Amino acid sequence: MFKERPSRDHYTTLAKRLGMLSRAAFKLQHVQKRYGFLKLGDKVIILGSAPGGMAQLAAKYVGPQGLVVAVDVKTQGFKIADNVVNITSNVFDPDITRKIQEVLKGEQADKLVSDLASNLTGVREVDVPRQLELVGTALKIAEGLVRKGGSIYLKLFESPEVKSIEDRLRLSFQKVKRIVPTATRKHSSEIFLLAIGKK
Ligand SMILES: C[S@@+](CC[C@H](N)C(=O)[O-])C[C@H]1O[C@@H](n2cnc3c(N)ncnc32)[C@H](O)[C@@H]1O
Repeated sequence: MFKERPSRDHYTTLAKRLGMLSRAAFKLQHVQKRYGFLKLGDKVIILGSAPGGMAQLAAKYVGPQGLVVAVDVKTQGFKIADNVVNITSNVFDPDITRKIQEVLKGEQADKLVSDLASNLTGVREVDVPRQLELVGTALKIAEGLVRKGGSIYLKLFESPEVKSIEDRLRLSFQKVKRIVPTATRKHSSEIFLLAIGKK
C-alpha cells in the first residue's frame, strides 16, 4: 500500500524537539540506519555543513575517537562538539583540499558527505547545473581525500545527468545506490547517491 511521506513540519518539529541544529540530520540518520554508513572512529568530511544538524549527529556516530571536518561557506559561530572542526570556506577555493588535509593531519578520510546546495531559484535550467557543479567539486575532493575502501554520500537533484554521475561513481566504487531519505520534502527532486567501497 502507498505510504504517505511524513510532512516537512514533522521533521522540522522533531529536529527542534530533539535539539538538532537542522532537519538535514535526518537525511544522515536515514543512511546510517539502513547502511551503517558511519563507524566509530571514522574521519568524515561534511561539505555543506551549516547550520550543523548532520555534523552534530555524525559527531555522535563516530564517537570521541573519530573526527568530523565540517566545511561551509557560512560561518558556524560555535563549536558543535569536541570532535568537530569547522572550516569556513568556499568548496571552489583552489586551496580547499589542502585546508581539509591540514585538519586531517595528512591522513585520508573514511567517509565524505556532500549536502552542498546553493539557493534555489526554482528555475531548473539554473538550479540543476549549479548543483552539478557542486557535485563535481565534491567528487574531486573525495578523489583526493577519501581512502581506498571509503564511502561517500552525495546530494543531487533528479536530472538526466544523474545517470552519468552514477556511471562515473561505479568506475571508482564497488556499489552505488540511489537514496531518497524520508526527510526529503514531498515534492523535492532531491536525491542522494551512496557510493560504497572506493576502489
Ligand atoms: C542544505 S544546506 C546544508 C545543511 C547541513 N548539511 C546541515 O546538516 O545542517 C546547504 C549548505 O551548502 C552550503 N554551500 C553552498 N554552496 C557552497 C560552496 N560553494 N561552498 C561551501 N558551502 C556551500 C550553504 O552555505 C548551505 O549551508
